[in-house]
This record gives sequence, structure tokens and C-alpha cells, in this order.
Amino acid sequence: MAKEPEDHSDASSLAELRREAADCRRCPLYKNATQTVFGEGAAHAAIVFVGEQPGDQEDRQGKPFVGPAGKIFDRALAEAGIERKDTYVTNAVKHFKFEPRGKKRLHKRPDRSEIEACRWWLTAEIALIRPKVIVALGATAARALSGKALTIGKLRGEPLELMGHAGFVTVHPSYLLRVPDQAARRLEYRKFVADLRLIARHAAAKRIAA
Ligand code: URA
Repeated sequence: MAKEPEDHSDASSLAELRREAADCRRCPLYKNATQTVFGEGAAHAAIVFVGEQPGDQEDRQGKPFVGPAGKIFDRALAEAGIERKDTYVTNAVKHFKFEPRGKKRLHKRPDRSEIEACRWWLTAEIALIRPKVIVALGATAARALSGKALTIGKLRGEPLELMGHAGFVTVHPSYLLRVPDQAARRLEYRKFVADLRLIARHAAAKRIAA
């Protein structure tokens, strides 16, 4: 009998899933990227953070959120009392999409079909981790996790359902680097830390209730 096409990975651990994802050809982005940048962190993390896609540094190092956005994310996590090593950090799209410009590689937003193709991995990561809370960092992650366009500004701070789990949306850390005015940037950073504190409280309450 013909084998049914699989609609989910049957990997039994994150390590196995990571090995499978290293050879991913589900969309064309693998062709120009250095490597698959898979998620990293605690196998049974209470909080899973989902970004957009690896940037230039992440593509070279093979780790999520290690470049400029990762630095500000780490600082905000520490201020909110969240240990990054106790969480799981991943991206909606696992290859760097860019446009070469001289010696630079300029970030390009993944499109709907790339987000859709990569959701295979995100779904499998979430199924193995079974977190208490999933956090979408920015619009691409919110789309990947909800299947539709969500307005971050309207929904941040509100508990939502994302991929069948409790979830929150907040801004992407790179947004904090782009706010041109210093006072506004500081304010946006404080709001981001406040979102992270709320998320930490929510995850802790769910852990106690479990
Ligand atoms: N931006 C992201 O969305 N993810 C990373 O890993 C780095 C930058």
C-alpha cells in the first residue's frame, strides 16, 4: 500500500529533529544560506521564544539570536529575571534570507510560502517541548504561530492561543534597535521588558497550576 505523505515529523527528540533540519530543502532558502539555524535551549522549557529568521551573525555561527538583536534580547531577558538557558529560542524560518549588497548581506523578510514551509519544523519543536507559554517576537513569528496576520501593537500584553498553547505576542528585539529617537527607544525597551516580566509571571503561574 502506498505510504501516506507525513504531515508531521516523527523525530522523538530535539537532537534528532535538528539533524533532520540540517538537510532541509522544504523551500529554496537553503541554497544561499550557510546553514540551518535550528532552535536552542531547554528541552522542556516553560517558555518558547520565536523570532523571524536568523540574521547575518546567526547564519555564520549556526545559533539563534547571537547578533545585535540577540544582545538586546539577552539584556532584556536578564532584566525581566528570565534565564535564557531555561527557555527555548527559535525562529519561524530557519535559513537566513538576504540580498547581497557589495560585501554586505542585507536581511530580507521571508515570504508567506517560506514561513509556511518552515512551519513544519516549528510545529515539531513545539510538539516535543510542550511549553507553558509561546512568545511570538514580531509579526513574522506571530503569522507563523497563528496562521494569520496579527497586529502586535494591539495584542501585546494579552494572553492568546498560539499553536494550541498559551501565547503572547510582543515586538521583535531588532525593532528596539531601529527606533531613531533615544528617549523613544528607551521607552520601547522598557515596554519590552514589561512584556517579558508579564510572560514570566504567566509561565510561573501555569507551572504551579500544573
Ligand atoms: N532575528 C531573528 O528573528 N532571529 C535571530 O535569530 C536573529 C535575529
